[in-house]
Amino acid sequence: MSKTIIVSNRLPVRISEENGKFNIVTSEGGLATGLGSVYRTGDNLWLGWPGVEVIDADKQQQVTEQLAGLSLVPVFLTADEISGYYEGFSNEILWPIFHYYASTYSNYKQVNWEYYKNVNRKFFEALLAIAEPGDTIWIHDYQLLLLPGLVRAGFPDSSVGFFLHIPFPSFEMFRLIPWRAELIEGMLGADLVGFHTFDDASHFINAATRLSAVNSISNVITVDDRPVVVESFPMGIDDEKYASLTKDEKVIEEVNHLKENFKDRRLMLCIDRLDYSKGILQRLQAFELLLDTHPEYLEKVVLHMIVVPSRDNVPQYRELKENIDRKVGDINARYRTLDWSPVHYFYRAFPIESLSALYYSADICLVTPMRDGMNLVSKEYIASRTQETGVLILSEMAGASKELIDAIIVNPSNISLMMEAMVQGLTMPQAEQARRMKLMRRVVSKFNIKHWVRIFMERMKEVKQMQQSMR
Ligand code: G6P
Repeated sequence: MSKTIIVSNRLPVRISEENGKFNIVTSEGGLATGLGSVYRTGDNLWLGWPGVEVIDADKQQQVTEQLAGLSLVPVFLTADEISGYYEGFSNEILWPIFHYYASTYSNYKQVNWEYYKNVNRKFFEALLAIAEPGDTIWIHDYQLLLLPGLVRAGFPDSSVGFFLHIPFPSFEMFRLIPWRAELIEGMLGADLVGFHTFDDASHFINAATRLSAVNSISNVITVDDRPVVVESFPMGIDDEKYASLTKDEKVIEEVNHLKENFKDRRLMLCIDRLDYSKGILQRLQAFELLLDTHPEYLEKVVLHMIVVPSRDNVPQYRELKENIDRKVGDINARYRTLDWSPVHYFYRAFPIESLSALYYSADICLVTPMRDGMNLVSKEYIASRTQETGVLILSEMAGASKELIDAIIVNPSNISLMMEAMVQGLTMPQAEQARRMKLMRRVVSKFNIKHWVRIFMERMKEVKQMQQSMR
């Protein structure tokens, strides 16, 4: 019987070590939940980096055994590999370029490319130990762009899917990468290449036909007589989980607590991983402009801002953190009163129950990235609005804006427009909020994570059948 193997840079777990024992907690992230139905079934597996450095061979064995019980297979990385492949290449070259940040944020060190190639090969070798001919292999995201090509060469009969969770940039950005042709060839090893949006898919087809000796007709690229299908699959969330969380006792308690604290103040919420692509500073500028130009909102509105620490070994992230700290400090110092602070800023992760209580309580949710593959926070807010009111302010640069067209859509570089969107949100009549919210809730529930997994897997089967019928 053939099996399915999911491969991603990170395994869906958090591991900590205490007194020589490893404590493993499975992640509640969207992808982990969605793919749970796949990797926890039958002989299926998920292969990836456990997220911590484990050097000692005995300890590696211990972690491997503990993970085996969860159908997870670890690929251990050394400190040098983490620095070269993960921080240096994935997050200092691919991440900024794919999010349209050229030059300042890109550092094209040859040595990091070598690490990237070697670690992609290390993942392939780990696959060799567990995969059999005929298996289905679904590879995820920008850290593993070379892996589909390696798998194609090693397992010609397997069915290989690849999904990119971040934007695929226009050719004028992508061409800046010194190793662009190798990256495209790696991705073309898949039978099905998936993106969040139609634009990402067409940028990829354009780059592939310009950099590689391949032909394309519509969304099918032919590589050595093998058709590779390129399509968009907008990712969803587990909407039912977010809706039912609002009825959880702990969540209700936190909601009541928030109500007492905020009284009649309006709550504007934003939740992001610390990243320059998220537009956090621009959003703070827009909020500052609101306080400057609309004194009627002084003491009446709070920006509740959660920033989740991320990639803190990469210099640009540390610098951004300092800039955010300074900006929040400036705004609060300028406007705060004895019993009101305009920005409530938290630099840490919160349990899902606290996030649910915030989503449920927030009058407005601000999701204004400069660039984002999809952005699931916007969908989590919508799914949590069981009272069917609330306003979503959404950047046109987020993949989600292609689906959530009833949000207030903004260009995040336009600070005064973002400020006006805040005013529009603060003054929007309940009936209008409900009209928009109902439409968006329908989209989030219809195109949920289960639907995303199902259509991607079904499409992989269809592509394989199409290839076989052509032989
Ligand atoms: C984005 C990427 C993921 C990544 C996540 C967290 O969503 O698409 O591949 O896992 O950020 O980033 P990290 O570097 O901590 O894995």
